[in-house]
Amino acid sequence: MKINKNLVLVGMMGSGKSSIGKILSKKLEFEFVDTDNKIEELEKKTISEIFKKNGEKYFRNIEEVISLKYLKLDGKVIALGGGGYINPSIRKYVLKNCISIWLNWKNETLINRIKNSKKRPLAIKLGSSELQKLITIRSSMYNLSDYKINCDKLDKKQIVEKIINIYENS
Ligand code: S3P
Repeated sequence: MKINKNLVLVGMMGSGKSSIGKILSKKLEFEFVDTDNKIEELEKKTISEIFKKNGEKYFRNIEEVISLKYLKLDGKVIALGGGGYINPSIRKYVLKNCISIWLNWKNETLINRIKNSKKRPLAIKLGSSELQKLITIRSSMYNLSDYKINCDKLDKKQIVEKIINIYENS
């Protein structure tokens, strides 16, 4: 029987992993998994509440457990949190077993989307220049993924088409 490798979307906060992931999952008829949503369901708290009440380290530990749990299943479209792929265990697993796609955008686009987002505890506490630095550091890791899509000049439909094309030919 053919095993459908998981299709994993990586990239910064605000890169569209969840919205693109949902469309992809319908087209591919795969289940969609957003690791942040799974963490919120498990903890019965929002990501912001988890950061506030338990701290980032606690969040990162659950992020690792939850991400690996779903990555180990097949036939899913998985949107990792922006910091998920920075975790070496998660990244190593994805690189070995999944098809990973980096949704890359210009720094400016990302910063405008996330800088005042109340849903994103990390973004709310960082100013534009710190976000710029974070994007630069993380990009070297996102760049390790199997494929990179430069999204700025594409609409959602075109991004989805590119990803389906990559997945079906990989
Ligand atoms: C984070 C990104 C968020 C969420 C958390 C931390 C990060 O997910 O996991 O706020 O470190 O980049 P999205 O990328 O889905 O916003």
